[in-house]
Amino acid sequence: MISKDKTSILLVCLGNICRSPTAHGVLEHRLREAGLEVFVDSAGTGAWHVGNPPDRRATAAALRRGIRLEHLRARQVELEDFRRFDLVLAMDRDNLDNLMRICPPEYRSRVRLFLEFAGDRVSMLEVPDPYFGGDDGFEQVLDLIEAASEGLIEQLQREGA
Ligand code: 4NP
Repeated sequence: MISKDKTSILLVCLGNICRSPTAHGVLEHRLREAGLEVFVDSAGTGAWHVGNPPDRRATAAALRRGIRLEHLRARQVELEDFRRFDLVLAMDRDNLDNLMRICPPEYRSRVRLFLEFAGDRVSMLEVPDPYFGGDDGFEQVLDLIEAASEGLIEQLQREGA
């Protein structure tokens, strides 16, 4: 259930330089196209890349679809995020588990896998980490993120966000 005030969504991966900034840029872009006012942010469970812009491969792949990421900067998830955001959406199960470990019990229902929202558009529940792979990994990340964003926007529209 998504609350009725201005909805806020936090997208989370490990480094906050590949998957979650891509999801941040894509979801924000698609929400704007749909005319929905939703606050979107992203963060990493790890701190290695705090303050850095997205990986240039992620930025280049997103730009090929008309979406800019270079203004984003990595930050680490903080406890306050669980209170501030209606949804805290993890890119994979490792990150979901790490979020659940630190999430105050009253906010656990806000923490989910992002790809749950893709429904039957895709057959995967995790966005694979593209960091150590080739450029096609970044294209797959975008395809999965587009599917989840579409499903999430449909749900927000149904709920009158
Ligand atoms: P992300 O990708 O979690 O999608 O941002 C990664 C970025 C960096 C590392 C791992 C994954 N790293 O090990 O530094």
